[in-house]
Amino acid sequence: MILMGKSPAILAPSILSADFSRLGEEVKAVEAAGADWIHVDVMDGHFVPNLTIGPLVVKALRPVTKLPLDCHLMVSRPQDWVEEFAKAGAAVITVHAEAAPHLHRLVQQIRSLGCKAGVSINPATPISVLEEILADVDLVLLMSVNPGFGGQKFIESSRDKLTRLSELRAERGLKFLIEIDGGVSRENIGELRQLGCDAFVAGAAVFSGDRAANLKALKSAAEAGKAR
Ligand code: DX5
Ligand code: ZN
Repeated sequence: MILMGKSPAILAPSILSADFSRLGEEVKAVEAAGADWIHVDVMDGHFVPNLTIGPLVVKALRPVTKLPLDCHLMVSRPQDWVEEFAKAGAAVITVHAEAAPHLHRLVQQIRSLGCKAGVSINPATPISVLEEILADVDLVLLMSVNPGFGGQKFIESSRDKLTRLSELRAERGLKFLIEIDGGVSRENIGELRQLGCDAFVAGAAVFSGDRAANLKALKSAAEAGKAR
């Protein structure tokens, strides 16, 4: 079964690919160009082989934009960090199922901090690990690359995973959002939208060249919902 999203697609530019020396301006530019969320990739050099930014940057960005800050925690022991990110101004906090043995407790903790709770799975992690938590989450973030770096190639099998998750959501009558992250482009966003994805993270596809033109092209390709 193919689901078409009823609300407009959510575009979440990933600041990982922005010019860090002008981060505030970059965020303002994508906001003005119609971005819906700002995706913040937090990496700890342990859960993933890269080291990026922490709650201080989220705090610094909070007054710069009205957009929700969508914080993707690619860290070990996420339970040690969710409170810091909530205090810093995160709207959505997404943690990895692979990093959280007590995922149910952690999701409740995120919600009790006043944030939307997301759970993410890596490309090799099956959707079945989320079966018992789906009713309790606001968002599921499907990784369509191995996390750690921007600008990687979309893993084709992610399409099947998206379809299965979308079907599971419909079967159970659940309302969580599905977000996809990694290798999203003008070429594949329409099909991903058609398969039931609501929110699209895009790093390299936004922050290279003309940000406004890139965002506009991604949005219209998403709404056109065309298969490749
Ligand atoms: C990967 C990050 C992604 C990444 C997406 O570990 O979670 O958010 O920045 O970048 P692109 O769109 O360039 O694949
Ligand atoms: Zn991400």
